Amino acid sequence: MDRFSIRGGTRLDGEIRISGAKNAALPILAATLLTPDPVRIGNVPRLRDITTMIKLLSSMGVELRADEHGEVLACAARVTDFSAPYELVKTMRASILVLGPMLARFGRAHVSFPGGCAIGSRPIDLHLHGLQAMGAQIEIDGGYINARVTGRLRGAHILFDKVTVGGTENLLMAACLADGRTVLENAAREPEIVDLAHCLQAMGACISGAGSDTLVVDGAEQLKGCAYPVMPDRIETGTFLVAAAATRGRVRLLGTRSDTLEAVLVKLAETGARIEHGPDWIELDMAGKRPRAVSIRTAPYPAFPTDMQAQFTAMNAVAEGSSTVIETIFENRLIQVHEMNRMGARIGVEGHTAIVEGMPSLKGAPVMASDLRASASLVIAGLVAEGETVIERIYHIDRGYECIEQKLQQLGADIRRLCA
Ligand code: UD1
Repeated sequence: MDRFSIRGGTRLDGEIRISGAKNAALPILAATLLTPDPVRIGNVPRLRDITTMIKLLSSMGVELRADEHGEVLACAARVTDFSAPYELVKTMRASILVLGPMLARFGRAHVSFPGGCAIGSRPIDLHLHGLQAMGAQIEIDGGYINARVTGRLRGAHILFDKVTVGGTENLLMAACLADGRTVLENAAREPEIVDLAHCLQAMGACISGAGSDTLVVDGAEQLKGCAYPVMPDRIETGTFLVAAAATRGRVRLLGTRSDTLEAVLVKLAETGARIEHGPDWIELDMAGKRPRAVSIRTAPYPAFPTDMQAQFTAMNAVAEGSSTVIETIFENRLIQVHEMNRMGARIGVEGHTAIVEGMPSLKGAPVMASDLRASASLVIAGLVAEGETVIERIYHIDRGYECIEQKLQQLGADIRRLCA
């Protein structure tokens, strides 16, 4: 298994380009199942999760061609297999996103039930209840979801008990081919859902309300092909901004969008960083100063994203002052704290709250990555620590960050991949 070796202490300084958003590219790839026509998707990041989704779609019979410029051409004209096997679903929970489109277009789907993962139990009950409300018969058997519908799914009024990103995406895609109108209330408002909705609209879907908590979809009998570029990755953007702030450096990020990151930028401004942005770039300059600690509380968009929590915790570990970090989305998402404490951080955890006492510095240590964003926070901790940090199990980080070590090297960091 590959590892990262990081020698901390260098201020990040420079300019890099942000990749396409993993969490938008995954549902958009799943959406290609909704039409027999070719769909051309641009700005697709080269990541392990994307490769997994491509493998999954290929195993169903979708023809896919990815080029080296991040363009994927998908054609689901001859889908022959309606199943998502455990071997793939267990490596990536977002595989569940094929359920809605398959059921809507082919009337059946056999998808492995995703288990829990390091950050929590992550149920999919809301996806299943929504599909049942649209007329699907669902059985759970042998660890698999067997879903069927006679004829088309039918439009329904669905009120989510809880805001769910994946649940909103699955039902939004299913509703596009349902018979009649579907209303999704208390829907998630994440920018990735808006991006998916825009792609579906380019495929001919009739959707209104994207970006609000009520989505209205008038189902069509069929959708057509389109060309669509994936939005920039707001979490990758936020991660590099935090890494620059924690190292007291400066970074200019190109090909990104500040309008998707307001809660994060407000908190970064509170650290004392100077932040400027234009239509497709963001610059953060800490001017050599130690960041001030900022308290955060995660919540669904437009509030502070859970996917940025671990990175802010790492920055707070070396910031001036104390802070509280409250995680409200996933029950076990403060796992990285114990690894950071091994590097000299002083972070206490009580339930879903971390209390962080900012230290003047951290000390490099061997640490273990446990999930995608927790690994990013360990990279940030390694960048500010004195001496060498070796991070094990970086396959977690390869799931969601494209060429992270090259991008950090471009900013002056001393980081190397040690291949197994
Ligand atoms: C997506 C993102 C992930 C992000 C998360 C929250 C992708 C591929 N992943 O994950 O990076 O951290 O949103 O912003 O886009 N829940 C239920 N029942 C359900 C579905 C969810 O109780 O049927 C709960 C979950 O356990 C969790 C909360 O709702 O506590 C939010 O989960 P959800 O928004 O669905 O996350 P994902 O779509 O899995």
